Amino acid sequence: MTEAEAAAELARLAAEIARHDAAYHQRDAPEISDAEYDALVRRNRELEALFPALIREDSPSQRVGAGAVEGFSAFSHGVPMLSLDNAFSPEDFVEFCARIRRFLALPEDEPMAIVGEPKIDGLSVNLLYENGRFTRGGTRGDGAVGEDITANLRTLSDLPLRLKAPFPARIEIRGEVFMTRADFLAYRAAQEAALAERERRRDAGEKLGPAVSVPVNPRNAAAGSLRQLDAAITAQRPLKLFAYAMGEASEPPAETHHGWLETLRGWGFSVNPLSSVFNAAEAAEFQARMASERPALAYEIDGVVYKLDRLDWQARLGFVGRAPRWAIAWKFPAEQATTTLLRIDIQVGRTGALTPRAVMEPVMVGGVSVAHATLHNEDEIARKDVRPGDRVVLQRAGDVIPQIVSVVDADRPGRGAAFVFPNLCPACGSHAVRVGDDVVRRCTGGLICPAQTVERLKHFCSRRALDIEGMGDERLALMHERGWVVSPADLFRLGARRAELSALEGWGETSVTKLLAAVEARRRPALERFIFALGIRRIGEANAKLLARHYGDVAQWRERMRAARIIGSEAREELGSIQGIGPTIAEELVDFFAEPKNLAALDDLLAEVTPENAQVIEGGPFAGKTLVFTGSLSTMTRDEAQARAEQLGAKTSKSVSKKTDFVVVGEDAGSKAAKATELGVRVLSEAEFRELAGM
Ligand code: IVH
Repeated sequence: MTEAEAAAELARLAAEIARHDAAYHQRDAPEISDAEYDALVRRNRELEALFPALIREDSPSQRVGAGAVEGFSAFSHGVPMLSLDNAFSPEDFVEFCARIRRFLALPEDEPMAIVGEPKIDGLSVNLLYENGRFTRGGTRGDGAVGEDITANLRTLSDLPLRLKAPFPARIEIRGEVFMTRADFLAYRAAQEAALAERERRRDAGEKLGPAVSVPVNPRNAAAGSLRQLDAAITAQRPLKLFAYAMGEASEPPAETHHGWLETLRGWGFSVNPLSSVFNAAEAAEFQARMASERPALAYEIDGVVYKLDRLDWQARLGFVGRAPRWAIAWKFPAEQATTTLLRIDIQVGRTGALTPRAVMEPVMVGGVSVAHATLHNEDEIARKDVRPGDRVVLQRAGDVIPQIVSVVDADRPGRGAAFVFPNLCPACGSHAVRVGDDVVRRCTGGLICPAQTVERLKHFCSRRALDIEGMGDERLALMHERGWVVSPADLFRLGARRAELSALEGWGETSVTKLLAAVEARRRPALERFIFALGIRRIGEANAKLLARHYGDVAQWRERMRAARIIGSEAREELGSIQGIGPTIAEELVDFFAEPKNLAALDDLLAEVTPENAQVIEGGPFAGKTLVFTGSLSTMTRDEAQARAEQLGAKTSKSVSKKTDFVVVGEDAGSKAAKATELGVRVLSEAEFRELAGM
């Protein structure tokens, strides 16, 4: 690897890790697994070890987490709140100990006491006590400054508001706020019920109330609960706290870490009862014991934190980058679990893709309660041959999205039949088809399918489609939610809802009048825009133009598309003969027109709008002429240009000869351009062609 390559990768890593820090710390919405995150950090560290001169100021090794979010005031930590390096194997741990011995120049036989503490994945907090009273507390934030969540922390029953004497005048205590598994499951069930109620209300048109979020794991639940702007909400959440570290202290409260934990207990804190002190050589044994006790613990742990016991040694070792040299987090490997597959649901995405989703008996895997997993597509189901009723192995190899790895009891007697993937859309009943070699089955009921309507409507109104000014995404979503606009035709009937529209908050007479005028202005769209606006898969602007120019008017197009259903029919041949319309595109069109529900929606729309016929120019500069295109065009595809020329009565050819009338040259035109000059054939630039073709 060259220095330049390393610098580029370090820059990329810094940006990427910063993005994930923000997702995790500020939005409580991680996009990647801890394992994947750790891998990024590790890669960053490896590169920095190889190229120390390239360490960036904004390198993840130089900072922790992400800054505070708005809503809370800032909380500056007296001593930075750091993060931990990770170990994944006994070798990593041995290296950790060896590094300490080297750094402190400890003799081989000098005993080295270590404290092991289960690592709970919650939210770390910093608690400031002044003269024995809890005065302020904050989140970690970027390690230097977090959020002041004092009021919320006061609601925790595990947090002593006063320390039992004796205590130093000023001390920062660090610990982890978390939810137990049972509390998390109950809380999540309550949130799911609240969400269902909210959806019922939405359907019934009742008042909605505040948004409801369903936490994905206990950490997420704890973080969300602790960062409420209203402490009364935090008070209702089942949060627990274990204390485990010290920040700034006016006097040292102990000589060893285990002594410090005892002090914390004496002051009234909860300290994890599994924490224990042992010799470095016994750590692997402790790791194995924690791994075996893990499933039975009341809370989720993802590893063990090991800390050097002597605080004077800790002080000498200090920090490197964002992690102390005297502590390490030894993580457990990815977790698997077995559960029962209850059923396979089919979800319809906004683009009509049918995605199978496994619904399972909920089970904890890698710190998360999992009840759903994606099965990707029907081929994947066939490959794994998963069937409802099967016992399946689930894995969250640190993945955010859990996966079904395999079926455990495929040989059991009385196992049901293989899963049959539906060929009708579960959302609207239209046909669902696979086109070409696409692995995804899609609903063809684009215009009427409720799962797709909002997206389709957005597309219909967008600038390059019907270009209805003022009909933004939010307005559309709202009008769809109210049931006013369900299909494109409804847009043109909004005039009848003038009163309801004006009554919407923040709309007013003027803006409604403007919006309705914008709709009226689009009752005669160009045919090509109209075709594009329908949002038929693979029919982008260029293909819509080709179709419009070929068929000329909408009635003709509709009729010929219906007729093209029959393979081998004249209409199908005609469709296939259009330059630029390949067999896959033809199939998409035919599928769209084969769906009666689409036809009904199209006809409904055609009762409201009348697309302008595409003009076919007769006579003109290209009638009866032969054109050759060469080089790449910048404003249109070669197919489009050829179709246009043909529409104007020209023939197109691939090679230049004396019979050629025009050669249209794009960029990087090669020998054909030269030949044209040689033969004295008229050469046109792309712009000249457009001009003559009236484009
Ligand atoms: S000590 C400088 N002890 O793990 C020492 N951290 O990866 C910093 N954690 O931010 C932390 N259990 O949220 C420590 N017994 C424990 C812990 C623990 C969980 C979390 C904590 C920290 C993260 C570091």
